[in-house]
Amino acid sequence: MSLAPEQLEILQKAATWAAENAYAPYSKFRVGAALLLADGSTVTGCNVENASYGLTICAERSAIVRAVSEKGPQVRVRAIAVDTLNEAAAAPCGACRQVLSEFAEDDATLSFPAILPSGERGFETLPFFDLLPFRFHLDKDRG
Ligand code: THU
Repeated sequence: MSLAPEQLEILQKAATWAAENAYAPYSKFRVGAALLLADGSTVTGCNVENASYGLTICAERSAIVRAVSEKGPQVRVRAIAVDTLNEAAAAPCGACRQVLSEFAEDDATLSFPAILPSGERGFETLPFFDLLPFRFHLDKDRG
């Protein structure tokens, strides 16, 4: 579903605010994610790093875990916005795309910081599944 520009802007701002809470002492790369759920509510997450490095959780996965924890397993994601407090581009990593795909509506929207053709930093907005055309999934009715 395509979002109204104002709705998208609110979601992007929620992602920016969420990034303020990031725990990123190692990379200093603070990321926030905001999910617009099918019930109209918004859930956010930030990256939480760990001294082991490998146990770091990305902002997008934090947000999904929080959404399921707060709303339950039927939660559906209508739109995802990501932002960072750095002037960097940041499309969700492959692991986050897979985790988001588990709960994303078929026509979910994704918006993330990107360097635009003009050279300026802006947001790229596109259908989420354009970024993950052949996701792994299991038939939930089986077994
Ligand atoms: N990170 C995210 O939060 N989301 C992504 O999709 C990619 C990377 C975080 C993980 C780590 O804390 C920092 O960015 C640098 O990789």
